[in-house]
Amino acid sequence: MNALQGNWNYPTAVRFGAGRISELAEACRALGMSRPLLVTDRGLAGLPIVQEAITANQGADLPTGLFSDVQGNPVGQNVDDGVAVFRNDGHDGVIAMGGGSALDVGKAIALMAGQTRPLWDFEGGADWWTRVDPDGMAPVVAVPTTSGTGSEVGRASVIIDASRHTKKIIFHPGMLPATVIADPALTVGLPPHLTAWTGIDALSHNLEAWCSPLFHPMADGIALEGMQLIRRALPRAVTDGADLTARSEMMIASTMGATAFQKGLGGMHAIAHPIGATLNTHHGRTNGVLMPYVLMFNRSVIEDRLTDAARYLNLTPSFDGFLSWVLELREQIGIPHALSDLGVGEEHIEILARLAVVEPCGATNPKTLSIPNLERLIAAAVAGDLEAAAG
Ligand SMILES: [Fe+2]
Repeated sequence: MNALQGNWNYPTAVRFGAGRISELAEACRALGMSRPLLVTDRGLAGLPIVQEAITANQGADLPTGLFSDVQGNPVGQNVDDGVAVFRNDGHDGVIAMGGGSALDVGKAIALMAGQTRPLWDFEGGADWWTRVDPDGMAPVVAVPTTSGTGSEVGRASVIIDASRHTKKIIFHPGMLPATVIADPALTVGLPPHLTAWTGIDALSHNLEAWCSPLFHPMADGIALEGMQLIRRALPRAVTDGADLTARSEMMIASTMGATAFQKGLGGMHAIAHPIGATLNTHHGRTNGVLMPYVLMFNRSVIEDRLTDAARYLNLTPSFDGFLSWVLELREQIGIPHALSDLGVGEEHIEILARLAVVEPCGATNPKTLSIPNLERLIAAAVAGDLEAAAG
């Protein structure tokens, strides 16, 4: 028996362990669902893990619909289309299954299931989420199939407002899925490049939370252990996708990253979001490219933090020890070094800086972000010049 399993109630009800997908129908029923809608992305919809989940639910007398019109970097239309299916077919709950995009759209469909206002009415003002009618929200079982986003334990969805080319954060405390089935066996088929890209996203969550200046020692503890798990497991999961111990450690590290980043994120995400929204790059891969530049930019105020983290991770206990590990890990798992490798050019720097400076997650970057210093930081990352990023 695989020992890496457990039933947890923090930060929500989590059924963790290989094979736990067999409990899907029971988990849906426990939340009062009799006709769930499974939301996933187009790629996953045809794969056995989704088809088998639907078949198993039918066999358990739980008729389950499928909505898979979800793109990477999902847009508001994906949510609207899913809400229409949810209402027309009389569903009463959502199974959000997949990577970050599918989880985010599934959670947003559940939020919108019984609302009368449009999606963007809940985003913008500091408290516009209070416009949501909680009685109109449907229950969610979240089933991650990648280890990176941690959206299964998040209270928000990132959805693109296509008319403004911006990633919007739709937030409501009730968006935290009531139940998570975290089954690392579902990630065994994830190819090496996606394992790497999603895995380094999980690292960026733990790392940015660790570096956030807010006071949140609980999150700090989770972030440190999350980074430790990733140091141990990510290279193994990329090299041997069938290594279930590495897959288990990556899956929990991903959940931990999203739990820790209630403490805040920082410059990596503030810059990665507008790059993803304008150039449709992969979110995790973009964070992975940005990681060492943002560390260099923040260096003067995070030297002690990174020295402590390096000590815990058994690295040379210094800022440089931590940075060297990040650079080695990126190379080992195939993350490119410069933003130019993702198609970002000098012509994008000005607009990206202007979009990044208003990103909410930049508010907890250790150093204050401004348009001029963001332009310099992004230019350094485009050129692949780490020294030029130092602030
Ligand atoms: Fe992320």
